[in-house]
Amino acid sequence: MTLSIAVLISGTGSNLRAIHSAIEAGNCDASIAAVISDRRKAAGLEFAAQHGIPTRVVAMRDFADRTAWNGGLTEVVDQLSPDLVVLAGFMRIVDGQFVDRFEGRIINVHPALLPAFPGHNGPEQAIAARVRLSGCSVHLVDRGVDTGPVLAQAAVRVFEHDTSESLHKRIQKAEHRLLPKVIDDIARGAITLGEKPVLRHEPEEDDEIFYSVPMAP
Ligand code: GRF
Repeated sequence: MTLSIAVLISGTGSNLRAIHSAIEAGNCDASIAAVISDRRKAAGLEFAAQHGIPTRVVAMRDFADRTAWNGGLTEVVDQLSPDLVVLAGFMRIVDGQFVDRFEGRIINVHPALLPAFPGHNGPEQAIAARVRLSGCSVHLVDRGVDTGPVLAQAAVRVFEHDTSESLHKRIQKAEHRLLPKVIDDIARGAITLGEKPVLRHEPEEDDEIFYSVPMAP
């Protein structure tokens, strides 16, 4: 089933581009219902507009407070009736109302191997901890910050000479493969979401993606 997805961004939107390219190439069975940003100037919005994808801005400053903003965001996404909500570099924390409304249907891409280094600056935390392996995670969003069940991860090396910027670049390359693949897996039913996500296909031996959800019995 072609998944209708709402993609939430705050900035560059390189993950949005990766999803779009994978769809165009026939590698991701999804259709982007709209791109929603909390920042009017997000470069990803321009990309979306240039590619005929509807855009919406839900900026904090247009609302009285965080709760009102979160309600506005919930409403805008709700109007799209997406099958899946994809947080692709969305830098704001969505609150309980949003999570409850789309429970089990919101995924986020995080630049670290969760549960290590949640929150901001995943790459910086990895450098500070002197780990030699890091990567990215796609997880279901729950009410915590980067605490929902991890669906899949991809790993990258961390070199002695890395800065958080150089590491983040390497991690983003991995994100661009991981995120469209997980969306496609969900579309094809290879991963089923819900309270306890389940994997319904045996990963290939040389698969560079590490699935974290248990196999269906
Ligand atoms: C990504 O590295 C993602 O993991 C993090 O924010 C970054 C967004 O990058 N949450 P982009 O806007 O997709 O280029």
